[in-house]
Amino acid sequence: MERLPFIAGNWKMNKTVGEAVDLVRELKTALSGVEEVEVAVAPPYTALFAVYKELEGSPIRLAAQNLYWEEKGAFTGEISPIMLKEAGCHYVIIGHSERRQFFGETDETVNRRIQAALVHNLKVIFCIGETLKEREGGKTFPVIERQIGGGLKGLGDQEVRNTVIAYEPVWAIGTGKTATPEQAEEVHRFIRGKLEKLYSGAVSEGIRIQYGGSVTPENIKGLMKQPDIDGALVGGASLKAESFSKIVRYREM
Ligand code: 13P
Repeated sequence: MERLPFIAGNWKMNKTVGEAVDLVRELKTALSGVEEVEVAVAPPYTALFAVYKELEGSPIRLAAQNLYWEEKGAFTGEISPIMLKEAGCHYVIIGHSERRQFFGETDETVNRRIQAALVHNLKVIFCIGETLKEREGGKTFPVIERQIGGGLKGLGDQEVRNTVIAYEPVWAIGTGKTATPEQAEEVHRFIRGKLEKLYSGAVSEGIRIQYGGSVTPENIKGLMKQPDIDGALVGGASLKAESFSKIVRYREM
């Protein structure tokens, strides 16, 4: 099955409103004419609405970096799915390893967030990945299996179809140490196999699995050649229009 490649930029805690608007303005130009690749950017909450306005009429999608599962109420500091929808978000990233590492995110809270997002028609970019210690201890597959089972718990076929999985080995994030295309493919294939067991061949063949972790214009092409790598979740290299647009235009390089 043909899966539309999907490249998303996770800006993390970078860019003020003004800087964010400048960057998407540049991106609109740098990406004009790009076809057959879906593109999304995930600015911090404060810049979402301004970026949405700037993106009107552009095929670039807006993503948020997290959400809280309640719709509204006394949850100081949190942001609800309804607020994200209204601010123009199409996607939301959930379960990023930085949230798991620094903010106490667990498989269970990831699952609650994913369910809330899908109920409100936000598509999910669901992040999973092992740490260096887990990889070196031979635990990569069990960790991935646990994260998938926990994160997708209770979701039906139609709901997983609205989910993109981002495999981001923690040791490759922000380190300049990318997984080799073969290392990434091995895990992507494993993930697709798990999805087939949990759902069906038709579902698993339709779900896109992005790779994330030190993706650059130099290494994207090799990654995208792998049969089960359907795109990338880009951190550092998404903060400049030049490098991000080169990644999106990987076929032309
Ligand atoms: P880097 O591309 O900076 O390694 O970050 C990857 C990432 O965490 C994207 O979500």
